[in-house]
Amino acid sequence: MDNQVSELIEKIRQQFENSPYPRIPLEKSPKDDFNALYIHNLITSYYLRYQKVADTAGKVILDAGCGSGYKSLVLAEANPGARIVGIDLSEESVKLARQRLQHHKFENVEFHALSIYDLPELGLEFDYINNDEVLYLLPDVVAGLQAMKSVLKPQGIIRTNLHSAIQRSGYFRAQELFKMMGLMESNPEEMEIGVAIETMKSLKDGVELKARAWNVSYEAPDAKETLLSNHLLVGDRGYTIPEMFAALQAADLEFVSMVYWRHWDVTDLFQDPDNLPAFWAMSLPEVSVEERLHLYELLHPVHRLLDFWCAHPSQGDSFVAVDQWERSDWEGAKVHLHPQLKSPKVREDLIECITKQKPFGSSSYVTIPAMAPVEIDSTLAACLLPLWEGAQPFRSIVERWLKIRPLDLVSLEPVSEETAFEEMKKFLTKLQVFLYVLLER
Ligand SMILES: C[S@@+](CC[C@H](N)C(=O)[O-])C[C@H]1O[C@@H](n2cnc3c(N)ncnc32)[C@H](O)[C@@H]1O
Repeated sequence: MDNQVSELIEKIRQQFENSPYPRIPLEKSPKDDFNALYIHNLITSYYLRYQKVADTAGKVILDAGCGSGYKSLVLAEANPGARIVGIDLSEESVKLARQRLQHHKFENVEFHALSIYDLPELGLEFDYINNDEVLYLLPDVVAGLQAMKSVLKPQGIIRTNLHSAIQRSGYFRAQELFKMMGLMESNPEEMEIGVAIETMKSLKDGVELKARAWNVSYEAPDAKETLLSNHLLVGDRGYTIPEMFAALQAADLEFVSMVYWRHWDVTDLFQDPDNLPAFWAMSLPEVSVEERLHLYELLHPVHRLLDFWCAHPSQGDSFVAVDQWERSDWEGAKVHLHPQLKSPKVREDLIECITKQKPFGSSSYVTIPAMAPVEIDSTLAACLLPLWEGAQPFRSIVERWLKIRPLDLVSLEPVSEETAFEEMKKFLTKLQVFLYVLLER
């Protein structure tokens, strides 16, 4: 590693040693944060990658650049029975992470002060690597990805993210400005933060950088962490979607999915997605995943992070999408509930909806994968109840549906098994889009 790179890494280490991130109180539990648990549960990304429902017990999970350990706690909570290993450059952060997990009584955890580049020193291999809000700080992103890949099991998955160059362009310009003013030569402290605030405050409101990258909340006494994470973030860099894909290719990793995949669909940006301009209707089906995502960021750069899952290049393990399944696939299919919906609270709410004949809003628990509220008719939702006890064969859900709705509501003729089969197929295919249910062949 050349001197300049090691100096930068040392600067980053010092910044987080002085100000460990995030500053979430030790006692705060993510137990009711369904969205965070859904994202950090390895079952979510394993299903997207392999269309299989993984078992979290016995899995080895790395939180690479764990900071003060809040996400390590989410990982421990979301993945029962898994072993959690956290590493971070900053000793102080690692100490806080250790205390946090101890406070919440997790025992199968360990933390080490270590650089991502030195991961092989641990002598471990991981089923899942969480690398949140770290990669964009690394002087060499490809080397960072390669280091993680070198400790990733063959079926393992990495979640990582880069800052968006387009969405954050205002902050990057502010950083350039503050670098020119010498505020970022060593780690910015009270004095440098004061000069930055004074500069921005004194500019006319119409000055473009101020309009784009400033508001009065940054002037508040408790905004220090926000400024250090944005305008004065040492080592920060922005990436576009093509740059992200180029880094993956250079590291010989394969893109799996954006973490918030439903929030990256370019067709959502059109007034009438079912009636696109002819050029778009003809071209979109032909373009690659990378191009679709790039179109999205050019049209609507609202996401601060390019947040994604990636894995070793696939070795012929692709699967058939559920909407392409044949009848024989359905015959043998197994239906699971996403573990993050499996809580007694969600079940109680469902029972209440069934008894009061109110629609059941599954998206009010896990909101991330849905763009608009997903409401399920309470009679249909009643088919899902056995899923709280465990996975069910698709056939038994069809039988349950036949018992719930044996007659056609219009003709009062008995519903045929064939009709019930088709209705359940349609219903579960829709829920599967949001991964509220997971279907296995
Ligand atoms: C913004 S914090 C994110 C913390 C945590 N992942 C989260 O999302 O809450 C970035 C963390 O990455 C760590 N870090 C930066 N470069 C690193 C490296 N090369 N190896 C290990 N940790 C690193 C920093 O020390 C810091 O704690």
